[in-house]
Amino acid sequence: MPSLILITGATGLIGFRALLELLRNNYNVRFTARSEAKAQKVLTNSVIQDLAPGERLTPVIVPDMTVDGALDAALKDVEYILHIGNPVPVPGFDPITQVWEPTIKGTANLLSTALKFPTIKRIVITSSIVGNMPLLPDPTKTVTAASRVPSPSPYPTSFPDLFQSYVLTKITEANETDAFVAKHNPHFSVAHIMPGYVFGRNELCLTAEEIRDENSSNRYLMGSITGKDLPFPLHGGYVHIDDLAKVHVQVMCLEPTPQMPSNFGACTDIDYSNLFDIVEKNFPQQVADGTFAPGKLPTLPMSYDSSETEAILGFKFRPFEDAVVDVAKQYLEKLGKDSA
Ligand SMILES: NC(=O)c1ccc[n+]([C@@H]2O[C@H](COP(=O)([O-])OP(=O)(O)OC[C@H]3O[C@@H](n4cnc5c(N)ncnc54)[C@H](OP(=O)(O)O)[C@@H]3O)[C@@H](O)[C@H]2O)c1
Repeated sequence: MPSLILITGATGLIGFRALLELLRNNYNVRFTARSEAKAQKVLTNSVIQDLAPGERLTPVIVPDMTVDGALDAALKDVEYILHIGNPVPVPGFDPITQVWEPTIKGTANLLSTALKFPTIKRIVITSSIVGNMPLLPDPTKTVTAASRVPSPSPYPTSFPDLFQSYVLTKITEANETDAFVAKHNPHFSVAHIMPGYVFGRNELCLTAEEIRDENSSNRYLMGSITGKDLPFPLHGGYVHIDDLAKVHVQVMCLEPTPQMPSNFGACTDIDYSNLFDIVEKNFPQQVADGTFAPGKLPTLPMSYDSSETEAILGFKFRPFEDAVVDVAKQYLEKLGKDSA
């Protein structure tokens, strides 16, 4: 029987795209959702329906991954886990209860629950490049997915801002997971994927407004091509959503050997200052009619090396221009405008 994969985060940008990749590769997939309504949003999505997965795709409702025993039903008979479902810093979120705790406690709970299930072979955790570098990156120092930064000590009980909580959460989760593996030597292997900012089509967005405003990291890109100024800089590192989905499935399938790394970067260094040049080049008519207008997207300079991932997986990451064009095209489609 084909492997059963558990995926978390399929109700979000990266997880949904990874789910499509799994289904297109004929896996049986169980996905977690925090509510029945969120599960239905995935199951009724037209791109999923076109794939007609039938019994190959089943939801399991897990309202809170941090609760003891909450994942028992989800992990039964599973061989591989893609753990993508963790929060990004959405304005208004509480830094402790909506960013730190779900990521730190939820991931720890997943790992310790997995110890009870001998069928599990490999767990792939989606972290971020921000987990590999200090809060303010030093662009003269190149970091990789294996780079680690000390966790805050003692663990914080509050944060000055949401973004700081996000970065320190990713740093701490990576360290805690490394320590879990060293302590328990589990029967399954664990790998981390560290993506840069993720841009590309999000098939979960059904309207132009959702593409612009409710679209994880794509919101920043959309803001900057529809005349909005971002008041803070973004790390200058990116990955195309389609490449990231491939990375997830390929890393999941890798046989762990002593030589095989357990951390995989998915990031190309970029500078957002040329972003609107890409839009002007590809969509001159829509710039002329005012559909697209430049906004400020400052770059936080950094230096990241993901060449090991490219060498192991055997493909080159796509250029930033591809992602800008894909996001802009999906927006035009939903507006009912010609993207030629
Ligand atoms: N987007 C990027 O640029 C980027 C870059 C690097 C790393 N990442 C990481 O990739 C992961 C997914 O990001 P994304 O861009 O796909 O974000 P997203 O579109 O906001 O999706 C987040 C996913 O995580 C789930 N989630 C959020 N809070 C949760 C909680 N408290 N308990 C359980 N599940 C929760 C969401 O479920 P609900 O639908 O129920 O909210 C959703 O399925 C995150 O770990 C993020 O840090 C993202």
